[in-house]
Amino acid sequence: MNEAIEVYETEQRTFAPPPEFVSRALVADRSLYDEAAVDPEAFWARQARELLTWHRDFDQVLEWDLPFAKWFLGGQLNVSFNCLDRHVEAGRGDKVAYHWEGEPGDTRTITYADLLDEVSRFANVLKGLGLERGDRIAIYMPMIPELPVAMLACTRIGVAHSVIFGGFSPDAISDRCNDASAKLIITADAGYRRGEPAPLKHNVDAAFSSCETVERVIVVNRCDTAPEMIEGRDLWWNELMADAYGECPAEPLDSEQLLYLLYTSGTTAKPKGIMHTTGGYLTQIAFTHKYVFDLHPEDDVYWCAADIGWVTGHSYIVYGPLTNGCTSVMYEGTPDTPRAELRDGDRATWPKDRLWDIVERYGVTQLYTAPTAIRTFMKWGHQEPDRHDLSSLRVLGTVGEPINPEAWMWYHTYIGGSTSPIVDTWWQTETGGHIITPLPGVTTTKPGSGCHAIPGVAVEVVDDDGNVVEEGGGYLTIAGPWPGMLRGIWGDPERYQETYWSQYPGRYFAGDGARIDEDGYLWLLGRVDDVMNVSGHRISTTEVESALVDHDAVAEAAVVGAADETTGQAIIGYVILMGASEASDELREEVRQHVATKLGPIARPKAVFLVPDLPKTRSGKIMRRLLRDVAEGRDLGDTTTLADSSVVDAIRAGAEAAASDED
Ligand code: WTA
Repeated sequence: MNEAIEVYETEQRTFAPPPEFVSRALVADRSLYDEAAVDPEAFWARQARELLTWHRDFDQVLEWDLPFAKWFLGGQLNVSFNCLDRHVEAGRGDKVAYHWEGEPGDTRTITYADLLDEVSRFANVLKGLGLERGDRIAIYMPMIPELPVAMLACTRIGVAHSVIFGGFSPDAISDRCNDASAKLIITADAGYRRGEPAPLKHNVDAAFSSCETVERVIVVNRCDTAPEMIEGRDLWWNELMADAYGECPAEPLDSEQLLYLLYTSGTTAKPKGIMHTTGGYLTQIAFTHKYVFDLHPEDDVYWCAADIGWVTGHSYIVYGPLTNGCTSVMYEGTPDTPRAELRDGDRATWPKDRLWDIVERYGVTQLYTAPTAIRTFMKWGHQEPDRHDLSSLRVLGTVGEPINPEAWMWYHTYIGGSTSPIVDTWWQTETGGHIITPLPGVTTTKPGSGCHAIPGVAVEVVDDDGNVVEEGGGYLTIAGPWPGMLRGIWGDPERYQETYWSQYPGRYFAGDGARIDEDGYLWLLGRVDDVMNVSGHRISTTEVESALVDHDAVAEAAVVGAADETTGQAIIGYVILMGASEASDELREEVRQHVATKLGPIARPKAVFLVPDLPKTRSGKIMRRLLRDVAEGRDLGDTTTLADSSVVDAIRAGAEAAASDED
């Protein structure tokens, strides 16, 4: 923590919103903050009524029975109605909802009327399969338009979805399906990644025998890879849609109706099913999507370049933008893969300007991406964006991990033309939407700082004893409920209470360290628990450890996240082999690969070190700090609490030998 604080302390630059921006901005003064400070509940009630359409108005804004919150009680609404019907009914059916672009370069233009039609038909398909309000289904799909269609169809009839990121493995699919008792999986044969179809149906097939409650699989044909279809179980999306009726009324649902589950890593091996409900969630993301991106829905072309498999995509590709009736870009593939017609010669020589090509062709006005992506673009060089006219961009966003000032400056200079405000948004799967961020027409930003809490949310930094820190470092907490907050962990209310509300009683503990500077600006310092952040993805050390020990040759394992220039943190595994197993490079590679198979490629350790022993305290606790120091090549400092200090030398020797041939 101290090191991060020192780096940030040297960062003194400030960037006020440019006057041209301010003159057109939705908000250019502190009025929203002032209003919310007086009466946060009244503030959120006004947002809920202004931004959303309710079938029935609510009678009570908040019921707070710590740690359980209910927002907008008595109110009824429907998410897909808010995202679709009301725009079409207002005569905006021809407005483009998504400019979708596939990785090969194929495109689809989907209007709000098109989307309403598809969503209604798919909702009828779900009903035809017997799904009812309160049921859960799993979605495991590439970034194709059918993904938001499937999600919105669920919301139309009160079915909760659990979207599983397409990079996850069969085990991750079955674990999530079993935890939620999902009845159905919606998938695709494959999706395009790096120029090739990446198979998905295949993983669903591998997971299926362990899925206790899933009855059917619906398959979109995206890549023509002709997957095996199991008679009576697997159904083609297209065939179902061709027969489906095109009208399906949006059901009025209670404000607290379960909207979705999204699994995220905690400090144990078992991911948590984070629960989000309807009215409060939609209010907060509609509000933040509108004001944080200074949305002018009449003429903006907004692009969040995340994957819908993560919360960023749920809130800021699907629900926020559609509720606000804006036009978005949605892109299937990776930034280093050009359109098929531009792929000449060897992969290594392909241009790496796909994102900038898309920004220019669609005239993107807001771009929302992650620091890890920005650092990768820096590595590729500014000649890539320089080939394109990026002058349409007005607001740049970042999310997922702390952004280092250098990456912030690069984004500002080469993508933002030194004028577009940058909104560094801190939030979590649990918070539903933005919690800490600048407002682009209001806030003077500092590179690397998330700046301030949004209006109506009480963020506070506290010390070890839970005392509020006015200036200096500590732990990030939220001192009370907010509309988009998680309502619990699926099936485990005790874990919900224990994980988030017990460390500092009465406060939500986010798991992040933070520093508040002399001007009251917040600086996020990364996780203070055993959760790693790899390319903006949350992965728990224990999850990777249990995947490692799952390998037959592994007796014991310890995992740490070591600082990495591009990915923020990299996963490093230390492994003790079973007595009978012989250490070899092949085995090391096999163990690494085993994690990818168990959890998915994003969790594959960057390096696995085979070590004779692990550094432990006398009480038997693994000293991760030491392992992190070894991985980062640092001086080890105080090792006196170690049970056996010779262990460290042996590990260091092993790590050095292995590092020489690490990939
Ligand atoms: C980290 C992603 C610093 C943080 C929306 C948090 C950030 C975790 C930022 C949540 C940011 C996210 N600055 N750190 N702007 N945004 N984080 O649930 O550690 O995938 O706890 O949600 O990412 O990750 P999650």
